[in-house]
Amino acid sequence: MPSPGRPTPLTCWTCGERLRLSPVGLACRNGHPVAEAGPGVYDLWPPDRDTPALDLYGTPLGWAYDFGVNTRPLATLAARLEWGTDVSRMYRLMDEALAVPRGSAVLDVPAGGGTSFAEGAPALKGLLIGVDLSPVMLARAARRRAANGLQRQVLLARGDATRLPLAAASVERVLCFNGLHVIRDKEAALAEFRRVLRPGGELLGTVLVSDGGSPYSLVVGLERMASFFVPVSSRELRSLAKRFGFQRWEQDLEGALLYFRGQ
Ligand SMILES: C[S@@+](CC[C@H](N)C(=O)[O-])C[C@H]1O[C@@H](n2cnc3c(N)ncnc32)[C@H](O)[C@@H]1O
Ligand SMILES: [Zn+2]
Repeated sequence: MPSPGRPTPLTCWTCGERLRLSPVGLACRNGHPVAEAGPGVYDLWPPDRDTPALDLYGTPLGWAYDFGVNTRPLATLAARLEWGTDVSRMYRLMDEALAVPRGSAVLDVPAGGGTSFAEGAPALKGLLIGVDLSPVMLARAARRRAANGLQRQVLLARGDATRLPLAAASVERVLCFNGLHVIRDKEAALAEFRRVLRPGGELLGTVLVSDGGSPYSLVVGLERMASFFVPVSSRELRSLAKRFGFQRWEQDLEGALLYFRGQ
């Protein structure tokens, strides 16, 4: 008997089949269980890979980041002072990135606390899949999804940006906002973004870089002392993007924050 529900870009780690979404949730047509990482959040972490011993974004640091980035006037002031950038441009880019047609899908990785849809995501017509390694951040994202009535449009899963639980060529866009400076293995992440994007699909986002000009490069240099903060330079990002097949690569550095997009 065919299993109910429509296929999603998400895949089952046991058999590789696309997971299907029905009103009762996400399921594998071959009956493999799909665990939960919290209420309304699926656990699609690679089963043969250890999860980090410390969920850094589950600490007060994660709370502070999440509160700041989702309190837009505060984020605008802080980003202006700390990184020399006007983040209203970042929020506009998020809104634009979510505007894909009905029937197609967008991946937001790392989704964090749901920053991309925290203000309601009116342009979202397709399916948004948010993947992050932190169950605490994903729980925040789930609360914002409920507050905005987006339960039918947003799927949340614990997963690894460097080994995504998604089928090849399954999404129209990949959003990667403020993620590449905390993801150590950027090669693996970019290779995964390329793999899951449909031909002609687009990667876009923002990242803090090490060459933002004075005094912001100094701030980034200090933040670099935290072992989880691993920014590259804008030149390194451009060459990585090229190496992983991204064409029409555009990047623009404003202060220490680099805005990028490529196909
Ligand atoms: C600075 S937050 C950005 C979140 C969101 N995109 C935003 O702009 O607010 C970075 C996020 O990256 C996540 N993260 C770090 N390494 C990851 C990985 N390998 N796979 C998935 N998420 C990861 C963290 O859990 C955290 O939620
Ligand atoms: Zn399966």
